[in-house]
Amino acid sequence: MIVIPVPLAQNPYEVLVGDGARHELARVVPQSAKRVAVVTQSGIGVTVDPGREHRVFEMPDGESSKSMATVESLCSQFSQWGLTRSDCVVAVGGGIVTDTAGFAAAVYHRGVAVVHVSTTLLGQIDAAIGGKTGVNLPEGKNLVGAFWQPSAVLCDTELLATLPPREFRSGQGELAKYHFLGGGELDALPLAQQVAACVAIKAEVVAGDERESGRRAILNYGHTLGHAIEIAGDHGLRHGEAVAVGLIFAAELAVRLGRIDAQRVAEHRRVVAAYDLPGSLPQGLATSELIELMGRDKKALDGITFVLDGPDGVESVTGVDTEVIAAAIDAIRSQGDRP
Ligand code: GLY
Repeated sequence: MIVIPVPLAQNPYEVLVGDGARHELARVVPQSAKRVAVVTQSGIGVTVDPGREHRVFEMPDGESSKSMATVESLCSQFSQWGLTRSDCVVAVGGGIVTDTAGFAAAVYHRGVAVVHVSTTLLGQIDAAIGGKTGVNLPEGKNLVGAFWQPSAVLCDTELLATLPPREFRSGQGELAKYHFLGGGELDALPLAQQVAACVAIKAEVVAGDERESGRRAILNYGHTLGHAIEIAGDHGLRHGEAVAVGLIFAAELAVRLGRIDAQRVAEHRRVVAAYDLPGSLPQGLATSELIELMGRDKKALDGITFVLDGPDGVESVTGVDTEVIAAAIDAIRSQGDRP
């Protein structure tokens, strides 16, 4: 088992990565907890043993279940069962479950302990680590939430073998991102070590900037255009696939700003292709629409804030000319797609 500390000043915790990590649950649930509310979805199909009295609460499947209504329902059920502030919530699932159950834990009785048992690649290397919890509103994604650090995170790599191939590939879009955040040749490592290396990078970044007042934004590398593609509608790409396209766009933008050279762009293309991820835009997306959507992103404080590679590594960059953005978008279009 690989143990990675998340060295937060107030709430340090450990992430355990490896085959069978879920079996460590009883050991990592806080001693004070007499009861454990296990939150999961019917499709997850992973049973856990928290080593004390527990009850399973299922939330519905799909992104639409990541809602205030689900949080209210979970909190009501916790209350009816008699869960107290010294007890614990265990979230078993991917990002939808860890975000929603994590937020329910953050607000129930003004905060109860939560442990994440992350069952997807995307969850293990991103959503379950770092304490971002929250739900969607009809007005947009992740608009209500809280920073609520878990007591521990279990990344059971054995479970990744059972993921649908497309779900796994989507997680690899986030994995590709970490190559450029100091991860290097991650694709050469065995899976558990890939996950552990990504967790270690995220842990270090989160420990330095828990509330995203600065450097934590580098974890959004590839996401500025990635989110715009996702918001633009159903273009058939999953989150990690859209991030992969966003990584190539970020490289094409950085090279036009003189921040990186052509070789580094080629490295981005190599990594994305190594994970069999798309490196060009889906058909039919207008440049003007993508630029407008990037400007609407909730992280766009002062014009569009890009996260770009450069001589000092990946960092936030503002004040980029619209023509340069448009040229970088054009560079990631496949042949014949010029809407
Ligand atoms: N998913 C980006 C972050 O946790 O900051």
